[in-house]
Amino acid sequence: MAREFTRVGVVGLGTMGAGIVEVFARNGVDVTAVEISDGALERGRATLTGSTDRAVAKGKLAEAERDALLARVDFRVGLDALHDVDLVIEAVPEHLDLKQRIFAELDRICKPEAILATNTSSLSVTEISVATTRPNQVIGIHFFNPAPVMKLVEVVRTVVTSADVVADVEALCERLGKVDVTISDRAGFIANALLFGYLNHAVGMFEARYATREDIDAAMKLGCGLPMGPLALMDLIGLDTAYEILDTMYRRGGRDRRHAPAPLLKQMVTAGLLGRKSGRGFYTYERPGSPKVVPDEYTPLAADAALADGARAMAKVGVVGSGTMATGIIEVFAKAGYEVVSVTRGAEKSAKVCEAVKTSLNKGVVRGKLSETDRDEALGRITWSATLEHLADVDLVVEAVIEELSVKKALFASLDEICKPGVVLATTTSSLPVIDVAMATQRPADVVGLHFFNPAPIMPLVEIVQTIRTSAETSATARAVCAKLGKTGVVCGDRSGFIVNALLFPYLNDAVKMLEASYSTADDIDYAMKLGCGYPMGPFELLDVVGLDVSLAIQRELYLELREPGFAPAPLLEHLVTAGYLGRKSGRGFRDHTRR
Ligand SMILES: NC(=O)c1ccc[n+]([C@@H]2O[C@H](COP(=O)([O-])OP(=O)(O)OC[C@H]3O[C@@H](n4cnc5c(N)ncnc54)[C@H](O)[C@@H]3O)[C@@H](O)[C@H]2O)c1
Repeated sequence: MAREFTRVGVVGLGTMGAGIVEVFARNGVDVTAVEISDGALERGRATLTGSTDRAVAKGKLAEAERDALLARVDFRVGLDALHDVDLVIEAVPEHLDLKQRIFAELDRICKPEAILATNTSSLSVTEISVATTRPNQVIGIHFFNPAPVMKLVEVVRTVVTSADVVADVEALCERLGKVDVTISDRAGFIANALLFGYLNHAVGMFEARYATREDIDAAMKLGCGLPMGPLALMDLIGLDTAYEILDTMYRRGGRDRRHAPAPLLKQMVTAGLLGRKSGRGFYTYERPGSPKVVPDEYTPLAADAALADGARAMAKVGVVGSGTMATGIIEVFAKAGYEVVSVTRGAEKSAKVCEAVKTSLNKGVVRGKLSETDRDEALGRITWSATLEHLADVDLVVEAVIEELSVKKALFASLDEICKPGVVLATTTSSLPVIDVAMATQRPADVVGLHFFNPAPIMPLVEIVQTIRTSAETSATARAVCAKLGKTGVVCGDRSGFIVNALLFPYLNDAVKMLEASYSTADDIDYAMKLGCGYPMGPFELLDVVGLDVSLAIQRELYLELREPGFAPAPLLEHLVTAGYLGRKSGRGFRDHTRR
């Protein structure tokens, strides 16, 4: 018969423990909440009351429900209080020796039939279990942060965990309103194994001053629709916890350099900058524990200050190209009030682009996002041409032709001949080095990357790529243009993948490697990232949308430029592309789309 969990114990009431207590108490389970000292106990109690008070203020919890919830929690110092619980969840700091010591104690104190669970993110549940005399009753129950919000629970079964214990814990997760995925005991399980390489890479970018913290975070939020940027997420997780997770994953997970904690992390932890919980990490918070970011000495000036900061005035813009990106970019500039000269390779192509722009603007009218007058004015601002000579008097050129270096170089050489002095020349390349294009002109200081995302009229992000020759004035101009377009421009260096693709594709590739290793299924991996980390799509859904061939090409570029062994494309990805399984566009990728 399935176990009844009437009273559970939670050990450690920090970032995770306090949230886990809330999850149980909210669902009618009595909780004994244990800390190491009176001070820590009071902090844990304050976290719980703060969280439930916020829920009441937001109208998500009635006052009476909050009071009933709090009445279910018995706060105690010391493990001895756990003698009568049916299940314990341990959420103390991520150190194996500490957890082993606590499990040995729990084994002595708890009823023989009690289940002992750890919320570890990266340590071996098996190694923790052998500190007890009941390893078959030890299991991982890995909640996600913030525990009351995130739906996912990873249930970690070791080789000795009893099947009935796994089944009972799965049923309990369901009772708590969570979605569980059950997996075996591997460093980082599903979500953290895919998440932490990405987080550490983002810290490395910040440490190398490749981009600012605001720009890295904005890039991933706006470019990928993530609920928060990687550095803000590190602050939420806690930098000490993140450091330990990375360190353990590095040692347990095959010494992948991408998990070797960025040196900056260690320095920040040593300096007591632990993230939200200490009031300062990558960002500064109103007070310890507060989610509210306050300005500090690194907070950038507002966008209009950048405008004053040496940006050139831009009124007339040339857009070269006739593909999806060029079409979207023409629309974006025309709608923002710029005069636009579209240059294609012939009248027929111009007519097609013109039709596409009209169709898209009309859609805006139908959806009530644009008035008919605005549409007509935007169209009236565009001139259609098939010759580059018409770009002689524009202030800015945006190139969006085929992704081939020789073609782009030849085009930039021609623009250099034709355009007036002082014009900003921008390329929308997503994978070629901007400096190669810049050096095809005699004015590399005026060349910059403007990496729009598809579809350009909708996606709010533009990566502004500065080469080692781009002038400060050109960068400032690019920032001011993005602001006028209503886009968020993030500035980064001229490295393969810029910010978004460099952080996104290795994670997707890792997901393919995880599937290839048969650690989990595509469905569970997708669930884990959506429900554990709040991603809008799971990695396999996204790969099928982006196209496996496109993803493979980007991943190859990253690997070739950075020579990072961990970036080598997953063989399964290569095979699928070879087999013609390219994703939605070919009807089949990781999933079959023909039957839907
Ligand atoms: N932070 C996250 O985002 C996250 C997410 C999922 C899982 N985890 C895992 O959860 C566990 C806890 O992490 P955290 O971020 O909540 O850490 P934390 O540092 O915020 O909290 C740990 C708490 O444990 C208490 N503690 C220490 N020794 C104790 C003892 N002997 N008895 C009772 N309490 C003790 C501390 O006083 C502290 O309040 C770790 O294993 C971590 O890997 C963390």
